[in-house]
Amino acid sequence: MELKRAAESEAFIFAGPVAAFTDNEFIVIDHPSGSVGVVRFEGDYYAVSNRCPHMGGPLCVGGGVKLTTCSSKPFEYETLEGVPLVRCPWHRWEYSIVDGTNAGNVTKTKIRTYPVKVEGENVYVGRSAIRHGRPETQEVAP
Ligand code: FES
Repeated sequence: MELKRAAESEAFIFAGPVAAFTDNEFIVIDHPSGSVGVVRFEGDYYAVSNRCPHMGGPLCVGGGVKLTTCSSKPFEYETLEGVPLVRCPWHRWEYSIVDGTNAGNVTKTKIRTYPVKVEGENVYVGRSAIRHGRPETQEVAP
């Protein structure tokens, strides 16, 4: 608990102990910008908005992360180089957990992604979203 407090700062909030994470399964946390899903995938941690830009579905609930690569056409997905995606449980739109882009270009709207750091035995998520370019198309917090 002391380590948690020591590492938590104005820039990062506590997401949970490393031991609480199972590979490829999201832990959803309360974040200053809303609900955020945090996941460990192939040894790296990612944090993304838990709100689907389509109709507000719980993006990080009920599924996990899979590897695929964005196709050039809507609703066509191919497995090529391995972009980790989260699939919305409501209508199956998929987004990169790396930069928030939509797979298949169904929408230009990105999901928010956040920096994650591990210090000691705990995982922390940045309060500010990562800017991946085209910020004008990023999801607006409710
Ligand atoms: S609400 Fe997520 S795909 Fe429709």
